[in-house]
Amino acid sequence: MTVEYKVHSNIAVITLNNPPVNGMNYETRKQICASLDQAANDDTVAAVVITGAGKAFSGGADIKEFNTPKMSQEPSLHSVINAVESFEKPVIAAIHTVCMGGGLELALGCHYRIAAPGAQIALPEVKLGLLPGAGGTQRLPRAIGVENALNMIVSGEPVKSEMLAKLSDQKLFDRIASSPETLMEEALTFASHVATIRPLPLIRHLKASHPNADGYFAFARNTVTAMSKHFPAPLKCIDCIEAAVQKKFKEGMDFEREQFIALLMTPESKALRHAFFGERAASKIPDVPESTPVREVKKLAVIGAGTMGGGISMNFLNAGIPVIILETSQEALDRGIATIRKNYESQVKRGKLSQEKYEQRMALLSSTLNYEDLKEADMAIEAVFEELNVKQAVFTKLDAVMKPGAILATNTSTLDVDKIASFTKRPQDVVGTHFFSPANVMKLLEVVRGKQTAKDVLATVMAIAKKIKKTAVVSGVCDGFIGNRMIEQYSRQAGFLLDEGCTPAQVDQAVEKFGFAMGPFRMGDLAGNDIGWAIRKRRATERANMRYSKTADLLCEMGRFGQKTAAGWYDYLPGKRDAIPSKIVTDMIEQHRKNKGLTPRKISDEEIVDRLVYSLVNEGAHILQEGIASKASDIDMVYLTGYGFPLWRGGPMCYADTVGLFNVIQRMKKFQKNPLDDASFWEPAPLLLKLADEGKTLT
Ligand code: 3HC
Ligand code: NAI
Repeated sequence: MTVEYKVHSNIAVITLNNPPVNGMNYETRKQICASLDQAANDDTVAAVVITGAGKAFSGGADIKEFNTPKMSQEPSLHSVINAVESFEKPVIAAIHTVCMGGGLELALGCHYRIAAPGAQIALPEVKLGLLPGAGGTQRLPRAIGVENALNMIVSGEPVKSEMLAKLSDQKLFDRIASSPETLMEEALTFASHVATIRPLPLIRHLKASHPNADGYFAFARNTVTAMSKHFPAPLKCIDCIEAAVQKKFKEGMDFEREQFIALLMTPESKALRHAFFGERAASKIPDVPESTPVREVKKLAVIGAGTMGGGISMNFLNAGIPVIILETSQEALDRGIATIRKNYESQVKRGKLSQEKYEQRMALLSSTLNYEDLKEADMAIEAVFEELNVKQAVFTKLDAVMKPGAILATNTSTLDVDKIASFTKRPQDVVGTHFFSPANVMKLLEVVRGKQTAKDVLATVMAIAKKIKKTAVVSGVCDGFIGNRMIEQYSRQAGFLLDEGCTPAQVDQAVEKFGFAMGPFRMGDLAGNDIGWAIRKRRATERANMRYSKTADLLCEMGRFGQKTAAGWYDYLPGKRDAIPSKIVTDMIEQHRKNKGLTPRKISDEEIVDRLVYSLVNEGAHILQEGIASKASDIDMVYLTGYGFPLWRGGPMCYADTVGLFNVIQRMKKFQKNPLDDASFWEPAPLLLKLADEGKTLT
């Protein structure tokens, strides 16, 4: 049973009990209606209280049912709310912890609402590319005013119950309980008091009005249009709220329904829902049960106070975990700590961090040149130079001093984590934690699972990731892990496009128009072209058969490493980050084509985008097939949170499903015929062929 029904003296209590968040799936809706019938037929029942068991009143409609027949199977959420609204005895919502989406819409349909302090109240549908589709856009403006409702609906952000109760003239809450613990008792008393009052108050009878409606909605549209370029939902929310002001309640409800159904079908909503579940699924590792005990990490050691070590440390300081940083020289330590200090100070200056918090965080930071001082730490993260012998020296020392059971993590981006683990006598405690730069900002953390990494080490790192607010995705050991292994193929294609006739700016603009935060060449200039150059040189022998465009090497031979040298694929003015197309670079590319006897051709934006994105899709399919990633949504999370892939397209794998795997493969086969491209590059991954053949999808 997902709904409990009990009678307390003359009050019936309907308790949603559908863990984890009392999502209103078909079963729950059916049982709410059955409970209402029971209460209607029981003459001893004078009023009904609806509440939720566990950690939510209700998180809303069950998102998993969307786009399935169950979603509209009667009783729909509309029908449930209608049944509540037209119930002949008073229905009181007793709201606590989380009251969101359809949960709030259900409450708005009740005759009265009493909320516990601290309850999170929201209509967050917009974050899933939707709008509140069960009356939220019609009832909330009537309950808290048009402007307040619009802010909540368009942002989707939760507001605390006690804040809403303070709004002037609000009709949302009839009472705020003294405490969460006394909510039910107070709701039952309240129900007894109102049991005989008639007529029953309905929010639909209130008026949604604004003294300057036309001007206000024009202003709201202007603001929202600028902020929601690629997402249709926010503007549709405004249309519906305007309908609440202009139309009769029933007409407004019909309008809202039409808009909701239309949004449900959009690729943007599909992508956002995919990302919602993908983020939660990423923390689940198929063979590591959620009950796996985690190790306690009360103190962290960071080895190396460079770019990454500093950023990594900040994550832990922000979470209140003490950090000790080790370096090879006092100068390097001072420099690293000064950078951390500078970063925090700039946050204080911008009003993003209070002086008090800044001081608290810095007080958690200590430094040393001596490994003996790391003995107390429960985990070490190594972020020293990307050279195997340097890593070996560090891990040998860590193995000697760290306490038994301490986790030894490496931030390596290209080296073999199993090899690094073999430098210790405790490979089961070694794991990769691949942060992205700037490590204190970027959401993504690739957790690299070595052959021998213990399950509780993985479980601990996933739990820590949550604590430091990262999206952690597990990757097996391979060259580049998930993200960089895919980006290598993408970069190779970008290079081929230069050989065949594109300019860096043309390629960047095409993918940026598609939605990437940054095209491959601007990204190279930001990260430093010399990094890829060094990797290519190191891999020269093992990748002797892999074809690359030589343009990236030629660029580095000219000393054009990117923004840091004020010259890369683009020119940069001193101290500025604007990428200015460079004549030197286009001349270099033209000369390179001449030397190779390549005749440039005009390449469409569509071809550029398809070649770059499908190169990610194909490598992603290999990664999935090899078990480096355990699910396609993990790959999408890597790309959404670490590589600027457009959120509204859901990540490369979700995008491939939207286009259709058959179509993707057809396009790849066409690219295979291009004599200047690498035919083997476009050999579709067996998994893609299989899924397309079976009419299945990746995600
Ligand atoms: N439907 C189905 N599953 C849901 C859900 C929902 N509405 N809300 C949360 N869940 C699931 C999550 O997928 C997760 O499942 P898992 O354990 O299998 O991974 C589990 O509940 C716990 O979720 P969180 O990890 O996010 O738990 P938190 O405690 O951190 O947060 C929450 C709880 C604030 C409710 C958060 O889950 C959330 O924001 N949920 C989405 C709420 C939402 O968007 N509601 C609107 C739904 S659409 C709607 O109501 C349409 C209507 O207008 C017609
Ligand atoms: P960096 O050069 O900025 O910093 C490295 C620091 O390590 C220097 O301060 C150096 O003094 C210190 N160091 C060197 N040898 C040491 C030793 N034996 N003991 C203690 N400290 C030592 O390098 P960066 O960029 O921070 O990279 C560190 C690691 O993170 C590398 O493995 C790199 O591949 C990886 N990485 C880098 C990313 C980036 O964008 N910079 C992104 C993801 C991973």
